[in-house]
Amino acid sequence: MEQKTFIHHSLSKLHTFGFNHHATRLYVISRLSALEACIQDGLDAPMVLGSGSNIVFTGDYTGHILKNELKGKQVIETQDAYLVTVASGEIWHDFVVWTLTQGIAGLENLAFIPGTVGAAPVQNIGAYGVDLSQFCKSVTYVDLTSGARSTLDQQACRFGYRDSVFKHDLKNQTFIESVTLKLPKKWRPNLTYGTLKHLVSSSDPWEIYHHVGAIRRQKLPDVTALGNAGSFFKNPIISKSHLKKIQQNFPEIPCYPNDHETCKVAAGWIIEACQFKQKTIGRIQVYDKQALVLVNLGDGCSQDLMQLVRLIQQMAWKKFSIQLDPEVRFYAQQSEWTIHDVCN
Ligand code: EPU
Repeated sequence: MEQKTFIHHSLSKLHTFGFNHHATRLYVISRLSALEACIQDGLDAPMVLGSGSNIVFTGDYTGHILKNELKGKQVIETQDAYLVTVASGEIWHDFVVWTLTQGIAGLENLAFIPGTVGAAPVQNIGAYGVDLSQFCKSVTYVDLTSGARSTLDQQACRFGYRDSVFKHDLKNQTFIESVTLKLPKKWRPNLTYGTLKHLVSSSDPWEIYHHVGAIRRQKLPDVTALGNAGSFFKNPIISKSHLKKIQQNFPEIPCYPNDHETCKVAAGWIIEACQFKQKTIGRIQVYDKQALVLVNLGDGCSQDLMQLVRLIQQMAWKKFSIQLDPEVRFYAQQSEWTIHDVCN
């Protein structure tokens, strides 16, 4: 049997905030046959866990946790592109490096994003002007109730900003098995993002890769030193008229076009403007170099994190009438919880 089972296993090393809650039953899935066996035996409130870098356990999880360790990569070369199929338990950043060493460019802007390949389509990971949906050809998943396998093409994944069908109709019901990316052979660097613009003459994806690494290291904490889950909130989308009102007092607010009627504003700036940089509750702090990131200074607990989150949301609402929605997801007992449930 390829499946390892753990009873009452500590979750502290299985999510990057590091809170010491427990998993009642944890299955490590390193082969598809192990997943099939689990489904046949019957799963109770299953949750799929990658590297735990975009979730917080706010208590013990008493359903089944399926720790994804499926590995493998395959490349099919067509006339104009590489079709790369990668197993969901691979580490995303290692995969990006592997593509570049194979001479396959395109994912360099998405280097250094923590997490597994399986998590990438769920929240449509993105950074520095690029997101996964631009390259995602299809996603194959296993239904956690029936065991049936299905493949969704790019359109059926219904990608949006940090969003996909896996957060809606298919929420918590699937085990993503693999992702297929289409990377054109004719590489075009994406240098639209502010701090990459000066690389305008770059003809080397590795140059962009190193630059992205340098920016991320400047702004984002090293998870091995300070527990965190990257951006804690999504950048809110507000109406243009709402933005205009804010700009009367804060003309410097960073904003990006979204659609005809709305625009996206920088949540990090909002939190900083609320004077919350370095605000600390217990051992949880708003990170000093990027206010969108909350960090565990060590021995922090989920209650303190939630108190800080509530304070930030209240202040953003009071000062800007903006609702900050978490990008991070919360799990405890037998299910995923909304921020409202966790904070009340
Ligand atoms: N800003 C502030 N104060 C802060 C933080 C940001 O004024 O404390 C301002 C910056 O000066 C800048 C703007 O806000 O003008 C945007 O900041 P940044 O470039 O750091 O990007 P972000 O919008 O805060 C998003 C993603 C990141 C991704 C970066 C780069 C979300 C929720 N976050 O952050 O993704 O790395 O853009 O593309 O969309 C993640 O999802 O975990 C993540 C790190």
